[in-house]
Amino acid sequence: MKAVAVFPGKPDSMHLAELPEPGVSDVPDGRGVLVEVLRVGVDGTDKEINAAGYGAAPEGYDFLVTGHESFGRVLEVGPNVRDLDPGDYVVATVRRPGGSIYDRIGAYDMTTDDTYYERGINLLHGFMTERYVDDPEYIVKVPAALKEVGVLLEPVSIVEKGVEQAYEIQRRLGVWRPRRAAVVGAGSLGLLATLILRLRGLEVTTLARTDPSTLSSDLVEASGARYVSTHELPLVQAAERYGPFDVIFEATGASNVVFEGMEALGHNGVLVLTGISGGDRTVEVPGDRILLGFVLGNKVAVGTVNANRRYFERGVQDVALAEAQYPGWLERLLTHPVRGLESYAEMMHLLNEEEAAIKVYVEVADL
Ligand code: BGC
Ligand code: ZN
Repeated sequence: MKAVAVFPGKPDSMHLAELPEPGVSDVPDGRGVLVEVLRVGVDGTDKEINAAGYGAAPEGYDFLVTGHESFGRVLEVGPNVRDLDPGDYVVATVRRPGGSIYDRIGAYDMTTDDTYYERGINLLHGFMTERYVDDPEYIVKVPAALKEVGVLLEPVSIVEKGVEQAYEIQRRLGVWRPRRAAVVGAGSLGLLATLILRLRGLEVTTLARTDPSTLSSDLVEASGARYVSTHELPLVQAAERYGPFDVIFEATGASNVVFEGMEALGHNGVLVLTGISGGDRTVEVPGDRILLGFVLGNKVAVGTVNANRRYFERGVQDVALAEAQYPGWLERLLTHPVRGLESYAEMMHLLNEEEAAIKVYVEVADL
């Protein structure tokens, strides 16, 4: 069967590869779940993998099948699979366990191993193919009523983990009733963070470089949040006008924004860092001021990567809530569909060139 793959380490090497047909018996103990891939989303990680910024092939292969934002339908289950049936819509988690204590308790997103395994990213083939098989531990059921937006669940899970990190950390305060949040970045992750924080009842200010009105700024406002162009009002000034911010969610991956976020954060606030860049930039920052504010303000900054199945499950609940509270909002994120795995070049072109693309995704098969 067909798959979209890269040769890791070789820039612009995306191509169609051939994979052997998977089957439920590929997974031990009768636990195989065979899934038909329906849609696969792409993001900056795929861009960097195709640019040879990172990514590694599985052992025994010179190519890596890409795709980590999957949505599919169960075709067949092994004899020892209980909670999934053929016809169920599903999303697969991305990371697979290594050997650390965290991996062994299902918190593989918190691994302390140096080597991590992620489908479509590092050392494991991804979902940009026709079918895949996996253990039910890594497959989360999605109600059929959410199938139109199911492909967004992987990025939603990243936001769910980030937001939960903030709430977990703030248990240090005994009581934490966050009122105001800032989200920096209005790409798919920033928009989803805006949504999830709105669903938690916060007053949200979302900042990005582009001037309104764009689809992103419209979506921010449609969720009841405030859109601010950083040309007009940089983050630190926005905090003076619209803060103090109890939470700042960083979703740009620009390192200067991290330090602006540290400066803009309110007392007892928490800064959640989700964006990364493969770059090697240095930035000059008002270090003394940031340090003083952090210490005297009891502030926290936390980095967060990936998501385990708990966050996907939470994501399913929030996607359902979002459909009830902001009907049609999530679907508006799905701006750039491309049809069929053979359209991978068009997909990469849209991902690299199209400013207005919030989410580029491949329709592998009909929903
Ligand atoms: C993915 C995460 C992954 C991270 C680092 C992100 O694009 O969504 O699942 O952990 O990249 O590889
Ligand atoms: Zn991703």
